[in-house]
Amino acid sequence: DIVACVVGARPNFVKMGPILRGIAATSPNLQTRLIHTGQHYDDAMSDSFFRQLGLPKPDVYLSVGSGRQGEQTAKILDSYERWLLECEQPPAATLVVGDVNSTVGCALASVKLGIPVIHVEAGLRSFDRTMPEEINRVVTDAISELLLVSEPSGRENLLKEGKSNESIRLCGNVMIDVLRSQLDAATALDPLSKMGLTKNQYVVWTMHRPSNVDDPELLHQLCESMIQIAERLPVVFPVHPRTRNRLEAIGLWQTLESSPSILATAPLSYHELLGLTSNAKIIITDSGGLQEEATALEIPCLTLRENTERPITVDEGTSVLVGHDVGLLVTLVDDVIENRFKQGKCPQLWDGSAGRRVGSEVAAFLAARKES
Ligand code: UD1
Repeated sequence: DIVACVVGARPNFVKMGPILRGIAATSPNLQTRLIHTGQHYDDAMSDSFFRQLGLPKPDVYLSVGSGRQGEQTAKILDSYERWLLECEQPPAATLVVGDVNSTVGCALASVKLGIPVIHVEAGLRSFDRTMPEEINRVVTDAISELLLVSEPSGRENLLKEGKSNESIRLCGNVMIDVLRSQLDAATALDPLSKMGLTKNQYVVWTMHRPSNVDDPELLHQLCESMIQIAERLPVVFPVHPRTRNRLEAIGLWQTLESSPSILATAPLSYHELLGLTSNAKIIITDSGGLQEEATALEIPCLTLRENTERPITVDEGTSVLVGHDVGLLVTLVDDVIENRFKQGKCPQLWDGSAGRRVGSEVAAFLAARKES
């Protein structure tokens, strides 16, 4: 049997390596096909992840590119459906990960052709339907047959939505598999000395969510607090293309770039970023993945969101939701510097073996389906 494994955007590339290896290690009878939708396509947003994380070259590249939400999702749906109809041997299942437009687009194309969908990182809910990702999560889970969850809240949410307990499996966090296996390689790159930074004496700041960067007033305030925080600790600021466009549009890019204690860079490679986050004093972010990585690394994380679909990073981990409260952000930076910040602990099953558990569950699911 063949399992078609879909990636489209940066966080998907990170998560897919352990899944492919997990399937290969536990299920010798299964073959995989790697489908890249082309949602992210720049070298820095895509190819560099394939190189560093040892991902195989995609078997299929759908070239969908950027676009409006509906347009991009429709292109993904259309082009994946075409591939499913035209490929020599249709897959026995489509495996999708996370919550990006590629996740929902391919899940829809697949289920409509009667090919079951397996969702890795299922069940996460922010309960905020203004986020495109929340829509993607709810829709993908509604049409998936096997739901592999990364933290216990995933199971609870899915049960409340009427999913059967048997369709849900807690496998842990595949992204943390990657973090654990790549930490040495990331450290060996020594990004700190290249950037003139000292261990534990700088902040890593990332933001790209439309709710933060598309509102000029809020973006302005966030930049002001970045400048203020940079007076206490240097800030490394890898800038997503969307954020860069917005900063240029409101005339703030120059200001940040020319500030001596703000290191605004192009999007970083996986190793460069991990080398920086793992030695940072504080991570400030609106990224779901970085919230989890901060928890696994036990680095304080100030999350620029009103809510999170990953509650374990707040309940057990190192994350605090700051929302849009820039005053609170500056206060919490002080708390960390003066050692008044909460401690976290690494969640259960974020142990580096989630990919193997995913592999076994995929094999068991397909075997059971064949029997019935
Ligand atoms: C997508 C995901 C988001 C994820 C993020 C990680 C959705 C709805 N959102 O958001 O959940 O956290 O990826 O990065 O799927 N662009 C480039 N080069 C690229 C890709 C994008 O320049 O290789 C620019 C384009 O101007 C594009 C914009 O970035 O319009 C946004 O890209 P898009 O894929 O629409 O969403 P992200 O904001 O990256």
